[in-house]
Amino acid sequence: MAGYELVVRGGMVAAGGGVRRCDVGVRGGRIAAVGEELPVEGARIVEADGLLVLPGGVDTHCHIEEPQSDGSIHEESFTTASHSAFAGGTTTLVCFTPQFKGGGILEQHRANRERAARGMIDHSFHQVITDPTPAVMDTELPQVVADGVASLKAFLTYDPLHLTDAEFLRVLLAARRHGLMVHVHCENHDAIHWRQQALLAAGMTAPKYHAWARPPVVEREATHRAIALAELVDQPVQVFHVSCAEVAEEIAHAQARGLKVWGETCPQYLVLTAEDMDRPGFEGAKFICSPAPRQAGEHEGTWEMLRRGTLSVVSSDHCGFSFGGDRGKARNGRDASFDAIPNGIPGLAARLPILFSEGVSKGRIDLARFVALTATEPARIAGLSHRKGAIAPGLDADLVLWDPAKEVTLTNALMQHAIDYTPYEGLAVKGWPVMTIARGEVAMEQGRMLAPPGSGRWLPRDASETARPLGRLPDGFEAAPPLP
Ligand code: URP
Ligand code: ZN
Ligand code: ZN
Repeated sequence: MAGYELVVRGGMVAAGGGVRRCDVGVRGGRIAAVGEELPVEGARIVEADGLLVLPGGVDTHCHIEEPQSDGSIHEESFTTASHSAFAGGTTTLVCFTPQFKGGGILEQHRANRERAARGMIDHSFHQVITDPTPAVMDTELPQVVADGVASLKAFLTYDPLHLTDAEFLRVLLAARRHGLMVHVHCENHDAIHWRQQALLAAGMTAPKYHAWARPPVVEREATHRAIALAELVDQPVQVFHVSCAEVAEEIAHAQARGLKVWGETCPQYLVLTAEDMDRPGFEGAKFICSPAPRQAGEHEGTWEMLRRGTLSVVSSDHCGFSFGGDRGKARNGRDASFDAIPNGIPGLAARLPILFSEGVSKGRIDLARFVALTATEPARIAGLSHRKGAIAPGLDADLVLWDPAKEVTLTNALMQHAIDYTPYEGLAVKGWPVMTIARGEVAMEQGRMLAPPGSGRWLPRDASETARPLGRLPDGFEAAPPLP
């Protein structure tokens, strides 16, 4: 038998739902063996004594180098995002291809592939649909799907991205036809708009009023509605960035009825609070994202939903806006009203350290749950589990050597992103990635990038088991066109 090209020796390997001291042998960029005392002749040996060996993180919700409707583009490129992802132990990204109302998706998809090919990290895309015209859904979407896109993203809020219920139904039906997963941003657009106008009219314009404009009830209502419409057409969905337990309850009810509904949350809903948006000066703008961070008292409820499995994925929702600069949070001035501040915060590199520290180190979740939430489940829901998300023979050798005892205070420099701040500045974490291996090559060691530009690979995805409908329609009636 041929030897291994790389052997990661003597670490505590998280595999098969457990953790045991053993070696990982790599051949041809894939995991060839997980076992004790693997032969090392001719192999590069990486000593992992005292370290955890984890599957590389899979982040299925990050906004990288995304063109915006105002003609600008996110500051974070696929190259800088690769640095940041590897620095935080993530080896796979699923990002977004935009659609602008009145525009198509095919050219956007091709351009996105070109941009992503310059980076060092393996990647796939969700296709955003903001305007489900027949030309887009019947002509362009099949071509994008044929190129390996297996998921759609729908926004139920934001000007100018949001869909009406009729448009959302079109997206769900198209997804069902092609076997795609649908990911949804759930907030009630009209309710938010009404509250925004009322707050602004009352002179309540500071960053903290972002949270007042979109309290949990608008997220809960839209989550209920999205799930109900998905049930109507028998289409699996994942609810993105669930901010608190009262919203997750909607998902729990759907799951209890046997529906294929999954929930994702993000570190910002586990450690940031609405009070952060009330920091002095314009500092609160650094924490503006949607849904808004909630009260500190909500965090434990969200952890409980992660333990129960109601929420099965923790993503970053990384969003490339700096604080300063002409594309940053303060682009409209340091006295801009909350509705004129770009939504979204950076968190690519912070995702795994925060979840490990707040979760595993503090005893809220065990290591197996950490691995499931950050790698195995996101890979499974994305239809990538044949390559990513676990340590098992045949899968890509994406590995993170993790020092569970290392104590680090988060700083912006450690994030290695293109953004000029981190909302987690000063947060103390216990547990840190010391080496990231991507497809059998050491991509980052002690924070130093070793992977060359252009080494990231496109991950074509097929229709997956997770996206397959249940075969359960009201009255058994398969609604055919005309679409609403
Ligand atoms: O505020 C956020 N989350 N911005 C990113 C876009 C989105 O809603 O996912
Ligand atoms: Zn969103
Ligand atoms: Zn997002």
